[in-house]
Amino acid sequence: MPLLTHKQVRPWSSSIREAVLLRKMPPWFADPQYGKFRNDRRLSEGQIATLAARVNAGSPKGDRKHMKYTLIVDAHYDNSRNNPRNPAPAALEP
Ligand code: HEM
Repeated sequence: MPLLTHKQVRPWSSSIREAVLLRKMPPWFADPQYGKFRNDRRLSEGQIATLAARVNAGSPKGDRKHMKYTLIVDAHYDNSRNNPRNPAPAALEP
């Protein structure tokens, strides 16, 4: 499932909220009994609350001017019908 644009992510938002609230995602299996891990990728309570609030608000699209990254699309990428399993990454929505 491509998750590059708001349009692609929006239909998944309830599942994403569930996966995050249940701490299924991002996966992290290290046992805290054995100390701290440098690559710990669990989300903080604050990050989880922000995500849940955003989904509860109907997953509105963010303000473009707050976006940090711009997706660069390779114009030469083969997006022909002969290559349906390997579509080009979608461009940022206007
Ligand atoms: C409906 C939503 C989602 C589905 C269906 C989903 C599904 C999966 C699956 C099947 C895996 C690989 C199996 C595993 O390692 O347990 C995975 C890995 C992962 N997911 Fe999700 N995921 C979802 C949402 C999320 C979200 C919202 C995050 C981040 C907040 C996330 C972060 C990750 C990470 C970091 C990995 C491990 C990737 C790696 O180590 O290569 N996922 N996901």
